[in-house]
Amino acid sequence: MGTDDRRKGLRSAGTYGKIDRDGFIHRSWMKNQGLPDEVFDGRPVIGICNTWSELTPCNTHLRDVAEHVKRGVWEAGGLPLEFPAMSLGETQMRPTAMLFRNLLAMEVEESIRGNPIDGVVLLGGCDKTTPGQLMGAASVDLPTMVISSGPMLNGKFRGRDIGSGTDVWKFSEEVRAGEMSLADFMAAESGMSRSHGTCMTMGTASTMSCLIEAMGLSLPHNGTLPAVDARRFALAHRTGRRMVELVRQDVRLSQIATREAFENAIVMHAAIGGSTNAVVHLLALAGRLGVPLVQSDFDIIGREVPLLVDLMPSGRFLMEDFCYAGGVPAVLKALGGHVRRDAVTVSGHAMGEIADQGECFNAEVIASLDQPVGPSSGVWVLSGNLCPDGAILKPNAASPELLTHTGRAVVFEDIEDYKARIDSPDLEVDATSVMVLKGCGPKGYPGMPEVGNMALPAKLLAKGVRDMVRISDARMSGTAFGTVILHVSPEARAGGPLALVQTGDLIELDGPGRRLELKVSDAELEARRLAAGPPPAAPARGWAKLYVDTVLGADKGADLDFLVGSSGAVVTRESH
Ligand code: FES
Ligand code: MG
Repeated sequence: MGTDDRRKGLRSAGTYGKIDRDGFIHRSWMKNQGLPDEVFDGRPVIGICNTWSELTPCNTHLRDVAEHVKRGVWEAGGLPLEFPAMSLGETQMRPTAMLFRNLLAMEVEESIRGNPIDGVVLLGGCDKTTPGQLMGAASVDLPTMVISSGPMLNGKFRGRDIGSGTDVWKFSEEVRAGEMSLADFMAAESGMSRSHGTCMTMGTASTMSCLIEAMGLSLPHNGTLPAVDARRFALAHRTGRRMVELVRQDVRLSQIATREAFENAIVMHAAIGGSTNAVVHLLALAGRLGVPLVQSDFDIIGREVPLLVDLMPSGRFLMEDFCYAGGVPAVLKALGGHVRRDAVTVSGHAMGEIADQGECFNAEVIASLDQPVGPSSGVWVLSGNLCPDGAILKPNAASPELLTHTGRAVVFEDIEDYKARIDSPDLEVDATSVMVLKGCGPKGYPGMPEVGNMALPAKLLAKGVRDMVRISDARMSGTAFGTVILHVSPEARAGGPLALVQTGDLIELDGPGRRLELKVSDAELEARRLAAGPPPAAPARGWAKLYVDTVLGADKGADLDFLVGSSGAVVTRESH
């Protein structure tokens, strides 16, 4: 009785290498799957953490992708073991998939730590699955690689390309404005989602998959290959093979996801005009890893980077076009000196080497620093008395003329209030008004939903108004657009000044100066604070209670306060 010498050094040796009663138990039950004796010979055990689900349409092909990872793992002499993790379907879950991102992260963390695996491949794609899985993996810190779902094929409707999300928002405004028939609207539904995969606009899923690639957490081209492209399956195969080598070399997630890697992610985010949701997710991930990163880093690091990729929601093209134009390596190449070249990647090559290999095949889709698609387009991080802990704005999704604007607030106390009154003919609102929505932050909704891009009042749409300044503590879909100020912190429910805004108050947005001011005196705000009633009751039980009791502000990544940091990979006690 003891430990089989061949297994020394690997984490799984503590389970499968035991020559005793416990080893019997660990191996014997696994053999019921038809695994022969010799796979317990000390080879690296690779977990494949899969968020496949038929309730997450963006991840429905991930069982097939996992089979290709397994081929690579076997080929390299590892033992692949696939396991499920809670799947978060952005378009299906209520009140919002974001409420459960941290629950997925907890599940992934404990599944990795509690099981006898030496490395893990994360399979995710739909918006919250990628960050949730990575946050969990980061708090264990094994060798880790990511394979994303990949985008759906371009949407098609009446002979032209249409984009996930982006065209839903557009079409529904057109129906409300009387410019599109309901029959056409319903017909577009079938053409928008034509294959497996994630939203094919530069929404949150595509943003995250491109940032993961730019951080070196996946092999090159993971960010953009369509979900159904055979090359994604080949990439999965190679990822399996590479994963075994990473375990043998003991290259941990924390050695890849360094401050430099986060800086590359922020640079890439600006170049692709990425989703605002990435800000919250990267802050949360950095918190797990102990990497110093604050909200304003997005503004400071992204400021000098022009918009290089012309994708919806702010531009013209879709992810298929981006992939065929050269994908993330071509953008890295175009970014030149903005790339932190020394950053280590899971491929074994430094990020600079990957950038050197990049090639652009369509300069309309991937532009150059000399002739960019647009000016500096990183996220703007605002401050001021309305958002003491910050707020964000995506300038390339906004109307330039509204980026400096002063107007009267039209306030909605919560989402029900908004829905009840927005189309009322009596609503006192005009194109210069500033729409303010409260109660949609992490604690307030709860879960910080994507409602910040509030649809405009029907009577203004009918007059041709297509954008207004909107302010909330919510997020917005990465596929959305507009002059929308998001993630106002502290949120209204946590006592932020947003809670004190009243209809008629003057609000001043100075985007270029990064200021957001409520033109109401401190004395008046204090009087309003004292006069305010008690906050609405918080959830009494279950996950929602734990979440609301412990969730941090959006400016800190909206992680749960006790999940920040890492508990490592060591488990000392046996199960029997
Ligand atoms: Fe899943 Fe957009 S809804 S990626
Ligand atoms: Mg989304």
